[in-house]
Amino acid sequence: MERTLVMIKPDGVERNFIGKIISIFEEKGLRVVALKKLKLSKEQAKTFYIVHKERPFYESLTDYIISGPVVAMVLEGENAIKKVREIMGATDPKEAEEGTIRKLFGVDKEKNTVHGSDSPESAKKEIYFFFSEYELIGAEK
Ligand code: CDP
Ligand code: MG
Repeated sequence: MERTLVMIKPDGVERNFIGKIISIFEEKGLRVVALKKLKLSKEQAKTFYIVHKERPFYESLTDYIISGPVVAMVLEGENAIKKVREIMGATDPKEAEEGTIRKLFGVDKEKNTVHGSDSPESAKKEIYFFFSEYELIGAEK
């Protein structure tokens, strides 16, 4: 079992797609371990996307990500990190495969509706960015 961090970005929340997006992940066998809606500050957004700080889109991306509420969740499943990345689709919705979340809902390369961790290291970092240990409730009874 593996855990990953998913964030529904402001364009997804704004257009009321929270439930639809979670359903897609659940239908593919992933399980919600933690979930919250919140609005990030600019400082938090800059920290979350710190790996992109030298990229030309950093300023615009962090402004966009604070433009409205987001929904953060931890999903669990076999190969959850890779699986979530496949279900999301390519960064640019124009290049995303049919049936992926970004193909279905993405607006453009920036407003692409969802974020998913890209490695075990970033998953760990991103999960604890949003949640503390006691908020993570797995399938175990
Ligand atoms: O999210 P993903 O891992 O697919 O892409 P990334 O290369 O790690 O970029 C992070 C986020 O920055 C993307 O999801 C887009 O929202 C944004 N981005 C952008 O605005 N312009 C780009 N040329 C590339 C990414
Ligand atoms: Mg990335």
